[in-house]
Amino acid sequence: MSNAPKKIAIFASGAGSNAAKIIESVAANPNPPFEVVLIGCNKPGAGVADIAAAHHIPVLWMEKERFFKGDTYLPVLADYAVDWIVLAGFLWKIPTALIAAYPQKIINIHPALLPKFGGKGMYGHFVHEAVIAAQATESGITIHFVDEQYDHGQTIFQATCPVTPNDTPDSLADKVHALEHLHFPRVVGEVVKEGAPAP
Ligand code: GRF
Repeated sequence: MSNAPKKIAIFASGAGSNAAKIIESVAANPNPPFEVVLIGCNKPGAGVADIAAAHHIPVLWMEKERFFKGDTYLPVLADYAVDWIVLAGFLWKIPTALIAAYPQKIINIHPALLPKFGGKGMYGHFVHEAVIAAQATESGITIHFVDEQYDHGQTIFQATCPVTPNDTPDSLADKVHALEHLHFPRVVGEVVKEGAPAP
């Protein structure tokens, strides 16, 4: 297997704090397992675009029509020789054509312990509100492969944090974000280097 860094595209539509951590992990590593060659974004004005600019990484602005009914930007991904796709706060469902082109090579992070608190509509503060409403005593993160269903593919890694009675959706979001920043860059590096863990 080649030891050349894998080329990854990060798809994100929000603030991009996870994208930033992943990008920064490359600079901090003398022998990085990957390089971030492209940021895919579908939300003009999203913070992740500023992060991309600060790191001189091109942004692929994605439109619904082409993503879902056109070539799904596959030729663009091929132009950048993208090996892996990392979803870091990307809300569109991934079309079958993209999954077929990148089998077990699309990684998502979800801000709760799947299979609980996942699925359509379960993103951002909705997740943390649901966790608190269910009086769960722990939450956390799930890093998983992407398949045709929302938040459903094989789990790669989970980490937990306590949910205390005085937690609010915001305070829980902060705890979960801290876990994401701590683990996501490392786990992405391990997966792209060593491949999928055994199911
Ligand atoms: C994260 O909480 C991630 O779990 C979810 O979207 C959020 C993105 O946050 N999929 P950020 O834009 O990386 O700060």
